[in-house]
Amino acid sequence: MIKVENLTKNYGFVEAIKDVSFNVGEGEVLGLLGPNGAGKTTTMRVLTCFLPATSGKASIAGYDVFHQPMEVRSRIGYLPETVPLYEDMRVKDYLDFVADLKGLEKKGRSQRVSRVMGECAIEDRANWLIRTLSKGLRQRVGLAQALINDPQVLILDEPTIGLDPKQIIEIRQHIKDMAGRRTVILSSHVLPEVSMVCQRVLIINKGKVVAEDTPSKLTQRLQKKVSVRLQVKGPVDEVKSALVRVDGVTGVNLSSQPATDVGEFMVDTRKELDLRSKLAAEVVRNNWDLLELTSSTMTLEDIFVQLVTEEKEVEA
Ligand SMILES: Nc1ncnc2c1ncn2[C@@H]1O[C@H](COP(=O)(O)OP(=O)(O)O)[C@@H](O)[C@H]1O
Ligand SMILES: [Mg+2]
Repeated sequence: MIKVENLTKNYGFVEAIKDVSFNVGEGEVLGLLGPNGAGKTTTMRVLTCFLPATSGKASIAGYDVFHQPMEVRSRIGYLPETVPLYEDMRVKDYLDFVADLKGLEKKGRSQRVSRVMGECAIEDRANWLIRTLSKGLRQRVGLAQALINDPQVLILDEPTIGLDPKQIIEIRQHIKDMAGRRTVILSSHVLPEVSMVCQRVLIINKGKVVAEDTPSKLTQRLQKKVSVRLQVKGPVDEVKSALVRVDGVTGVNLSSQPATDVGEFMVDTRKELDLRSKLAAEVVRNNWDLLELTSSTMTLEDIFVQLVTEEKEVEA
């Protein structure tokens, strides 16, 4: 449904996105995850025909975003980072206005407006002036305007930013419910959000795709991984093989060797286990000296930071 090939966008000397490629299947919900300045908004603005790319190709439902913008626009709904709402319009009139802009015929328009208001749970605010609405309600009006043309593809730029926890849960659920019926790309800089809502996640940093993963793999990583760091005085090879044999250990790496008979080992364990005492006992049983033992947990945040930092190092 969405194809992006080697997309690059420069703003003057700033390379906002570099060689970004990905596909989104029909009915799929894809998350664009990345820190501020990663290039999420730029990618979305190119896909929604608001910005021409410097190079590369993109198409939606088979229509090229550069050469067939009218075809593309009629098939997408876009919730920008800041929704251009008209403060002095009433919700219903605003949605009718957007419907008109998007070329919906007068006949059936008010029905469509009622329908999206229902879908976004704002019917009871139909006659309210937009300026009197809370941030959460405004965001729902923003979502309603994106849905007004019943688009096949929805592009949502940080849809939960600035909302309170209850509103966040509502919007996320709403997006989740659309999976299968619409193809969705949503951006976020919050990890739990994309893993909750999306079927696939693209991590971007400094304009480049640095990782792509399914939520189940993300969830696996989300669960804390426990590593134990041990410093042992003893024959390093023998120590290593003894540690590997401890039940529940999934891997052992010699991370440094401060002296010929001293090794520092990183021991990965199955996540639910605390093997510190077992590991210590194993060292003692072999009459080696246990110089240090610490455990460290790695959260998805850590993994994310690591990915992002690795990328930085590559570029430096
Ligand atoms: N209109 C612009 N002019 C110049 N640079 C811009 C413009 N918009 C974005 N950038 C730069 O492009 C990069 C990507 O920005 P953006 O796509 O907004 O990232 P994100 O949405 O992930 O925070 C940033 O370095 C940003 O400063
Ligand atoms: Mg942005």
